[in-house]
Amino acid sequence: MVSQSTIEIVKATAPIIREKGEEITRRMYQIAFEERPDYKRSFKTTWMQHLDGGPQSRKLAAAVYAYATHIDRLDELAKAVDKIGRRHVELRILPEQYPLIGEKLLQAMKDVLQDAATDEVISAWAEAYDALANIFIQKETTIYKQEDQELTERLASANNLTLVHQTDQSR
Ligand code: HEM
Repeated sequence: MVSQSTIEIVKATAPIIREKGEEITRRMYQIAFEERPDYKRSFKTTWMQHLDGGPQSRKLAAAVYAYATHIDRLDELAKAVDKIGRRHVELRILPEQYPLIGEKLLQAMKDVLQDAATDEVISAWAEAYDALANIFIQKETTIYKQEDQELTERLASANNLTLVHQTDQSR
């Protein structure tokens, strides 16, 4: 859980996030890909088809705005978290990728918001981002484990099939 002062600061930034969110997320992807060009490969359905990355920047900006307005009632975001988490798992996004995206999101806020990105605002968003990243990481870990269990069960029954087949041949 984030502190009460972080909740208040993040909520107070919601209007500026609504106005400048897409500019921030575009900048975020630009500086994130500069450092990790390999991350771009995961974005094949958005970035590779729309070279300006517009659709994904808009989706991420909308998610950041929804988080800013719902930070004190996150249960209302459960469906969205589930959908985004499933998409991340489909693309094999891993926990270790979250810090870089967070670092670049904060840098992009500074670049775009300039004077409005006070130290107070940036440290509130740092705490808020970590909390959101942990929500996704937990959700995605659960989905990965479910998938792993299903796969293990399918492999186990496939092994049984092979054994039956071999036994049949040996008769
Ligand atoms: C708290 C942090 C994050 C938020 C709020 C977030 C939000 C989102 C949203 C809203 C979508 C669109 C889902 C849809 O199309 O239904 C998405 C997709 C995606 N995210 Fe994230 N994400 C986060 C972290 C990350 C990280 C760390 C990575 C790793 C590089 C990542 C990679 C992707 C990719 C590859 C897609 C799919 C894009 C496509 O469809 O081409 N995300 N994310």
